[in-house]
Amino acid sequence: MKLRKLAIVAVGASMTLALAACSGSPSSSPSTSANTDNTGALIGISMPTTTLERWNNDGAHLVDQLKGMGYNTDLEFADNKPDEQISQIQNMINNNAKVLVIAAIDGTVLGPVLQTAADAGIKVIAYDRLINGTPNVDYYATFDNYKVGTLQGQFIETQLGLKDGKGPFNLEPFAGSPDDNNAKFFFAGAWDVLLPYIQKGQLVVPSGKSPANDDAWQSIGIQTWATATAQSEMQNRLNSFYSGGQKVDVVLSPNDSLALGIEQALQGAGYTVGTDWPIITGQDGDLANVKNMLAGMQSMTVWKDTRQLGDEVSKMVDQILTGKTVDTNDTTTYNNGVKTVPSYLLTPQVVTKDTVEQYLVGSGFYTKTQLGMS
Ligand code: BGC
Repeated sequence: MKLRKLAIVAVGASMTLALAACSGSPSSSPSTSANTDNTGALIGISMPTTTLERWNNDGAHLVDQLKGMGYNTDLEFADNKPDEQISQIQNMINNNAKVLVIAAIDGTVLGPVLQTAADAGIKVIAYDRLINGTPNVDYYATFDNYKVGTLQGQFIETQLGLKDGKGPFNLEPFAGSPDDNNAKFFFAGAWDVLLPYIQKGQLVVPSGKSPANDDAWQSIGIQTWATATAQSEMQNRLNSFYSGGQKVDVVLSPNDSLALGIEQALQGAGYTVGTDWPIITGQDGDLANVKNMLAGMQSMTVWKDTRQLGDEVSKMVDQILTGKTVDTNDTTTYNNGVKTVPSYLLTPQVVTKDTVEQYLVGSGFYTKTQLGMS
């Protein structure tokens, strides 16, 4: 009886595969774990840390969505420690999770634990950050990371009139955590816009912390995206390279946690809004940064509506567990060194002081009261 059931499952699965192959849809790939009633199945959600605002929002939204679909969830945060993340994932495997949703701390160290997951038939979705060097990552969902950097670079280009030949301006660039696969995409997107202006002399980097090309980004990376590290790095640059009276005109910050530290350093060094405060980029739309934008201390943030990402990933989980075709819209960009992972890319949005109300309040991401706007 059991064998017969297995045989039917196998025939069903191969029919699904055959049908999917016939449909010729390039934007989706078939799921293999079908034909079982997975109602109430456990979904393991592994997030990097509670210290960055976004991951709390991401985790909470995923739990809401998945519970609403009838699944059980185990949400864990790993305090930005790769070993802790590995043991949390191992526990999820031991507890018979059916799907793992993982925002990796270090995208290169999860291979062995994900092999254990694969051996147990568990599907893995890389959430926001790609997991590298393993065949055992089934899908990836993220915002277009290169585009995030492009938007930051283009914002600087427009604000400074670089296309019109203006300059020279003093730029201080920063990059994200060296172990985060996203950080290199953010940097490359921005640097591909900005580097030509450095080469032409319209942008100058007084600290010399100017990677020669996209691949050298880790030399200016801030480990674990820590605000305090970004602050002390900016203080060092200000003390060492700006003591003769020259001013920073623009800071490329890849995200809001770094921008916050950089803003604190500038404040400490006596920069004031309305007189010599530089252009500063960011990403995420964290509450403190949006307040800083309203106060003129941050010029923009690249907002990634984490609710959209959670919705997309919950849909992926459900499609996997109900044997449906999993929606993806990019099957070429994200190669993890072993395979190109079928991905779903969402579109990030630039938000400035002038559009906070339109995008962040209008979408219900924040209330006016939270932002001190009413
Ligand atoms: C995420 C960013 C976030 C950063 C720090 C990146 O992988 O894509 O949204 O700001 O990690 O947590």
